[in-house]
Amino acid sequence: MCGITGYIGENKTTDILIDGLKRLEYRGYDSCGIAVVDGKNKLYLRRVSGRVDALDKLVAGDPVKGAQSGVGHTRWATHGAPSEDNAHPHTDCAGEVVVVHNGIIENYLDLKEKLQAGGHKFKSETDTEVIAHLMEDKLKALHVQAAAMRAEMLEPVFFEAFRRTLADLKGSFAISMVWARCPGLLLAARMHSPLVIGLGKGENFIASDVSAFLKHTKKVVFLNDGELAAVRMDGVDYYTFAGKKTAKDSVTIQWDSTMAEKGGYKHFMLKEIHEQAEAVENTLRGRLLPLGGEILKAEMGLSAEAMKGFSSLQFIACGTAYHACLVGRGLFENFGLVASADVASEFTDRAKLMARGTLVVAISQSGETADTLFAVREAKAGGAKVLCITNTVGSTLTREADYVLYTHCGPEIGVASTKAFLGQLAAIYLLAGHFAAARGRLSGAEARRYAEDLLKIPRLIEETLEKEPEIAKIAEAFSASEHFLFISRHLNYPIALEGALKIKEISYVHAEGYPAGEMKHGPIAIIYKGMPLLAVAPSGRTLDLMAGNVEEAKARGADVVAIVDAASRKTVKASRYITLPEAPELFTPMLTVLPLQLFAYYVALAKKCDIDKPRNLAKSVTVR
Ligand code: AGP
Repeated sequence: MCGITGYIGENKTTDILIDGLKRLEYRGYDSCGIAVVDGKNKLYLRRVSGRVDALDKLVAGDPVKGAQSGVGHTRWATHGAPSEDNAHPHTDCAGEVVVVHNGIIENYLDLKEKLQAGGHKFKSETDTEVIAHLMEDKLKALHVQAAAMRAEMLEPVFFEAFRRTLADLKGSFAISMVWARCPGLLLAARMHSPLVIGLGKGENFIASDVSAFLKHTKKVVFLNDGELAAVRMDGVDYYTFAGKKTAKDSVTIQWDSTMAEKGGYKHFMLKEIHEQAEAVENTLRGRLLPLGGEILKAEMGLSAEAMKGFSSLQFIACGTAYHACLVGRGLFENFGLVASADVASEFTDRAKLMARGTLVVAISQSGETADTLFAVREAKAGGAKVLCITNTVGSTLTREADYVLYTHCGPEIGVASTKAFLGQLAAIYLLAGHFAAARGRLSGAEARRYAEDLLKIPRLIEETLEKEPEIAKIAEAFSASEHFLFISRHLNYPIALEGALKIKEISYVHAEGYPAGEMKHGPIAIIYKGMPLLAVAPSGRTLDLMAGNVEEAKARGADVVAIVDAASRKTVKASRYITLPEAPELFTPMLTVLPLQLFAYYVALAKKCDIDKPRNLAKSVTVR
């Protein structure tokens, strides 16, 4: 997830763009840049690897006078490590067209090959740069004798070349472009990534969200997928990608800019809980079909042959990422592959005992967790190949792994991990599907069904999150409790652990996650009358056993909240229910964790805890 801004008007373009980027830094902050065009058709490009403050200093030391339009970008890398060359805006060969982009161009490798064959020279590793070179080709194809034409005559040419460029793109994009020869027109388009227009007096704005320009105007127009905007100082026209003019209503935003950064949510954690469908969608985008083929080879060098060659998998991580490892272990075992999972800080001795041909899978949102990095180094010293799943491009872990699979969740600001966890699960399900298909554990039809089921998850996530009000009420009823138990079985046992961790780290209360089958081996002794016990019990082969465990807990006085689906609700006798949409048992962890995240959030809210920055915790633990 990145932040884009754009401006056209008489005021200080560079200041407005940079100030907007500062308000969008929560969307990405590994590199940033602006490009502005002055009245003499001169384009200025300023980019840094680092935060917007560094860009501000660079521009202050080298001011641009008289710019009347421009675009800005703050990056959360998806393709190409953080660097000045990979920072947006990106330009064409001639350095006259500039583009900023938020999203993923799925077909960028094909487009890049064709453009390079046509003589285009690329300066970055990003997917975005193909847009600028495509535009250059379209302008040439329209036989633009730019020197001979006045700027306003060039506007229809700029517009048509932009439209044709959009037609070649596949994937998700919010983009904005300026062309040095046409400083009076800024173009913007939206497909699966947010883009909003700010309407001012004699000036207009575009941005990924309203926080970028809210101090200048609260009158906004939200673009929909498949719509583009032609933005001039004196007004904005809207079109479909096919070029049909459309009318758009403006709305007046009531938020202040702090609320806007959180998208109107009270905390980043709640905002990120609601970004999980998008995080899963973006992580799966363009990587799923055909399962077991060579689709991951192009991106990360993992061939079907290699997937067939590994004898077993060894997952390692810390905290929430370790819970993702446990889901991964169960999932790969489900496909007949031997798999283990260890907390990274406990893995060291085991690193030397791994069987030959083991693939170590290290999972880390930050890619900087010291325990995980140390365990990876031990594993490599033991001769293992390492595949990492991380949300942070260019992080240390990516430089130490043999294969890198990025989750595309955008920056996770809340210390308690939510969307990064769902992104990790999406990456694990993606990998497991490819491994199973490559190793003949999923037939063609089964692989297609598996992919179809996985692609339904984002919608089921949205449906599950609609239960938020009832979950909030249940959480508030338990907000005075000092002890919580979370139980489940099989693939949902890690979800019980994750639910316990969430409530511990943001509400500071004692909570334990347990395999339900273990309760009678001791822990059941701690149950007291009214003790909150959350039982994750979706339909599946462990349901009857789970129903029995709930009975045993209730008989000792536990106050049971059951996370069920409509069918399993009939079997489990709880005091309260949170009923989720039906999903194939294999995929339930991606849904059952959602109510536990919300439960933890609303208990912490009731206890007035510092939810985004819980005491004693760091977002990335870079010490052992
Ligand atoms: C998650 O809610 C925690 N904040 C923490 O356990 C985290 O998952 C753990 O520190 C691992 O971080 P990583 O994914 O960046 O390696």
